[in-house]
Amino acid sequence: MIQVGVVGAGFRSRLATAAEVPGTSRVVAVADVDEQAARRAVAERHPGADTYTDHRALLDRADVDAVLLITPDHTHADLACAALQAGKAVFVEKPLATTVEDCDRVLRVARETGSRLYVGHNMRHMPLVRTMREIIERGDIGTVQSVWVRHFVGNGGDFYFKDWHAERRYTTSLLLQKAAHDIDVVHWLAGAYTERVSAFGALRVYGDGHRRAPGTPKAPDWLDPERHWPPRAQRDLNAVIDVEDLSLVNLQLGGGVLAAYQQCHFTPDYWRSYTVIGDMGRLENFGDGSGAVVKVWNRRRSGYAADADAEHVLPPSTEVHAGADTPLMAEFLRFVRDGGRTDTSPVAARMSVAAGVQATASLRAAGEPQDIAPLDPQLVDYFERGQRSL
Ligand SMILES: NC(=O)c1ccc[n+]([C@@H]2O[C@H](COP(=O)([O-])OP(=O)(O)OC[C@H]3O[C@@H](n4cnc5c(N)ncnc54)[C@H](O)[C@@H]3O)[C@@H](O)[C@H]2O)c1
Repeated sequence: MIQVGVVGAGFRSRLATAAEVPGTSRVVAVADVDEQAARRAVAERHPGADTYTDHRALLDRADVDAVLLITPDHTHADLACAALQAGKAVFVEKPLATTVEDCDRVLRVARETGSRLYVGHNMRHMPLVRTMREIIERGDIGTVQSVWVRHFVGNGGDFYFKDWHAERRYTTSLLLQKAAHDIDVVHWLAGAYTERVSAFGALRVYGDGHRRAPGTPKAPDWLDPERHWPPRAQRDLNAVIDVEDLSLVNLQLGGGVLAAYQQCHFTPDYWRSYTVIGDMGRLENFGDGSGAVVKVWNRRRSGYAADADAEHVLPPSTEVHAGADTPLMAEFLRFVRDGGRTDTSPVAARMSVAAGVQATASLRAAGEPQDIAPLDPQLVDYFERGQRSL
């Protein structure tokens, strides 16, 4: 039985229900600086678990084998290092950290301590992403040359402009906060990491919106996709907003693959559109959740053809993230028990943060291209061996 501690009992902490697996794992402790949040999580999802307001009390418990870090992005690096040093297996939510230096610090501490590190890039377990990867691995579109991602963040005003997400000091940028997912997927699909980026971005809509007074809590109806429309009708935004709500990034990957990522926080719809172009065809998804379709054109040239040469329909799912979170947690628990390689990768997590950080630097420097510093090859080796020392 793996005994799990959860640090951070906010919106995303529902993920921890996937660690309540009879006979395999259970949550025995929840820590949150907000005592009410920890108590609520225990009452709703983890009966019998103890609550703490200081993560150190949770880490001091010898009977906690693994911890889930589900706190705001800027806290990830310090909490991950503390948990690794306490000898716990660590699940840290994406993004791994908000700076490249912090990512590298976490990876170094993982290697020095030998404690297991797992980064929760759940998109690698999304049926859409796995379907696209299978199509590519099978050779249906040839060798990948380009990946284009359009990210329509329909609930942007609700989710990202009413709390810490809206502040650079907690996220670096929303570009990094959200694109950490998609840049990782681009890297996974293309089989290469970003080496150089150039970006433009702006705060086009929410900069002018109605803001709450500093220190006042979010309104009880902060998340209401039906009523909070159009975006300029939003009220009670965060007191400080210094991140962009629109960003366009060009990425040059190893091996010459070129990618583009576009993120908008004021669209009416909320989904991701991927186009992957190989040297023998292309794929594109229509919808990204339950029942979505990935179409492949690869037999001939034509004008616009709604009928593709192949269509791959995703399985139905009623879970958030189209069912990615259950296999994500199952993989983490398997990794805690047995170690070894996983579909998610701490090295890849670092490389997606590095690309997001440098894209942010570029967009705040009028699009000036920025290079991505490679990771220490010794750390790459350690993680590619499945976190086993020689
Ligand atoms: N993988 C995904 O699909 C996905 C989805 C949503 C959020 N996330 C990630 O999950 C993390 C949490 O996001 P959220 O939406 O739940 O945020 P949130 O603000 O709703 O919750 C964060 C919680 O952490 C607590 N906290 C802050 N600092 C703490 C500390 N030092 N020790 C203990 N508790 C602390 C806060 O009091 C709060 O209850 C973020 O890193 C976010 O990027 C990932």
